[in-house]
Amino acid sequence: MKKILAFAGSNSSTSINHQLLEVLAKEVTVEFELISLRDYEAPLFGVDLKNEQGVPESMSLLMEKMKSADGLIVSAAEHNGSMAAVLKNTFDWLSMLEQKFLLNKPTVFLSTSPGPRGAASSLGHLVEIMPFRGADIVGHMSVPSFYDNVKEGEIEPELKEQLICLIRTLESTINQ
Ligand SMILES: Cc1cc2nc3c(=O)[nH]c(=O)nc-3n(C[C@H](O)[C@H](O)[C@H](O)COP(=O)(O)O)c2cc1C
Repeated sequence: MKKILAFAGSNSSTSINHQLLEVLAKEVTVEFELISLRDYEAPLFGVDLKNEQGVPESMSLLMEKMKSADGLIVSAAEHNGSMAAVLKNTFDWLSMLEQKFLLNKPTVFLSTSPGPRGAASSLGHLVEIMPFRGADIVGHMSVPSFYDNVKEGEIEPELKEQLICLIRTLESTINQ
């Protein structure tokens, strides 16, 4: 069975982006693995550190996990108008392993925040930049006002329909 790997671009123990992926997990019809970057910690990237100590094992393990997946979903938190530092740091380390570290995998980018823009700036940066890093983006969507639209594990119906549509597009791409 084909497999989707998903993770939030957040290292918060209460990440709403992770929660969004947990809710979506119920809708996926292929194998779905939701991981947390909290389990793939890495020090702040720097060229000196990389030259002295190499790439952290956690990043090699994450890369192997990504290689084993047929498709990816990344839901990005937004910090000060862009992706959270943990996601940028992860991507900088992964780029030391593979220049196109998203491996030409069919990818859906999501984002959410408590505010009405739903971390749209963070999402916009990813959608703009990541095709150059090997993301085959099949769709993207920001979910606004998380706490208004996701309650007790249920997403507001119109948003849910749009998200399921994105998941089906990803599934049909990887099932081809
Ligand atoms: C340092 C910091 C900066 C933030 N900047 C933004 C921002 O620019 N835009 C936004 O919508 N939310 C911003 N937020 C609020 C986050 O959207 C909110 O903390 C959200 O829960 C982050 O996603 P996560 O729970 O998945 O980590 C910021 C939060 C922090 C801690």
